[in-house]
Amino acid sequence: MMKHLYCTAGAGMEELLAEEVQHKLCATQVEQISGRVFFCSNADLHTVTQLKSAERLFLLLRKAEPISLPNNPAKAAAVIKQSVVGDPDIWKQTLLTWTALQEELQGSQQRGHKRRREEEEEDEEESLTVADESTHTLTSSTHLLKRQNETNKESREQTPSFRVSCRCSGVIARSYTSQRLGRIIGMAIKEHLGWKVDLKEPVLEVNVYLSNDHCVVGIPLLKHPLASRSYMKHNGLRSTIAWAMTSLCPKQLNDCVILDPMCGVGAVLLEAAQEYSNAVFLGMDTDTSQLQKAAENLKACGMEGRVQLLCSSAMEIPLADGAVDAVLCDIPFGRKFSCSSDMPTALPRLLREMERVIRVGGHLVLLLSLQLSAQLKKTICTHKHNQHLNSSDTNNVHTDPSNTHNESTDTPKTITFHKPSSETSNTPLLISSLQAQRTHRVSLGSTDAFIHIYTKIQTQAHSH
Ligand SMILES: C[S@@+](CC[C@H](N)C(=O)[O-])C[C@H]1O[C@@H](n2cnc3c(N)ncnc32)[C@H](O)[C@@H]1O
Repeated sequence: MMKHLYCTAGAGMEELLAEEVQHKLCATQVEQISGRVFFCSNADLHTVTQLKSAERLFLLLRKAEPISLPNNPAKAAAVIKQSVVGDPDIWKQTLLTWTALQEELQGSQQRGHKRRREEEEEDEEESLTVADESTHTLTSSTHLLKRQNETNKESREQTPSFRVSCRCSGVIARSYTSQRLGRIIGMAIKEHLGWKVDLKEPVLEVNVYLSNDHCVVGIPLLKHPLASRSYMKHNGLRSTIAWAMTSLCPKQLNDCVILDPMCGVGAVLLEAAQEYSNAVFLGMDTDTSQLQKAAENLKACGMEGRVQLLCSSAMEIPLADGAVDAVLCDIPFGRKFSCSSDMPTALPRLLREMERVIRVGGHLVLLLSLQLSAQLKKTICTHKHNQHLNSSDTNNVHTDPSNTHNESTDTPKTITFHKPSSETSNTPLLISSLQAQRTHRVSLGSTDAFIHIYTKIQTQAHSH
């Protein structure tokens, strides 16, 4: 069935989501706006729910021109009735599609439960127990089906209970709060379509987004956000960002060795391990309680055999030079994670160590705060200054003329830094082997961060 859908996405994730729906769902009519990606797809709903970069999934009901509302509530209600609610037939049709998709989803969930139970049953020895379990499965499935049918009956009868959840911004938000608009829209739907308002346990949630540029109405297809991964027992880095770090890596990472030297509870490793079933993963952290949680997360999603965990410092990675194909690392900042060293000071040494263990041709993907990203740039400026003073250094500098993806033109082309003062001698220690591929700004909610992607290239130092 061809469906008009849209997903919400965190700031900076829209482009990745648009690519993901095209790549994984063969979606058409893909259109991205700030915080949302619209698309058409006939992929089955279970496949759609496997999207990794999206926050929430909606069935599109209406995408119209932005509206402007008069201050007079009665006149505003009339505009809303015409511009936000519009044609009742479209709502009826969308409701039928929504109901059919709920049934499809429930069917695939039941098949999933049944498969899992069958796998469990294979382990049981007593045939009598197996028979009991099958009866139980059958009974609970029948019970579930009955309950679902009751819920779907209401929506099939075209009089579902609903509530409106509204978000508005821009000019509209100066005259109306989202709550007040939600009430007006709710009244209009009730009068126009005969649906029943239920603020506590509605069958449907009608989601409305009004801004200076958009008027979007949709119905969520799932109760839970796609972004809240059921397989994470302990939450770490936002799963969508962890996935973005993997997907921004310029090369497929199957058959590769991948290291996260500051893995925390393992969010990055888990997302990468789901994406690359043939890769080998190693996670390191100095905090044993984080490693314990990482181990529990891996166990909860059956990945414990695929990821090795090690208590060790990223400042001294116990691996040989060139031992890994990629390093993915969410470098700590802010107060959430303790860090024995001052990160801006430690950053050069950390980078040096990560660069050392990556093989030539391998990749480094870093999530850095804006402050640490600036530190990276400052270091590079320092090098440019030195380069100017000492022309013999120039053959150590590599730039990437094909780098068309960088967000800003002043994005670093090469990581270069000096040996930290705690290390021996004051001779500059330059890393000239990390070539910038791309820099991507993302939102972590309360703050923004950059994902930096580098590829390790051959330099004179390596060829010796
Ligand atoms: C930003 S958190 C990583 C969060 C991780 N991506 C997750 O999803 O949980 C950074 C981690 O670095 C660890 N850490 C701090 N200093 C370290 C060091 N020198 N070597 C290794 N790990 C370190 C902290 O214990 C913390 O777990």
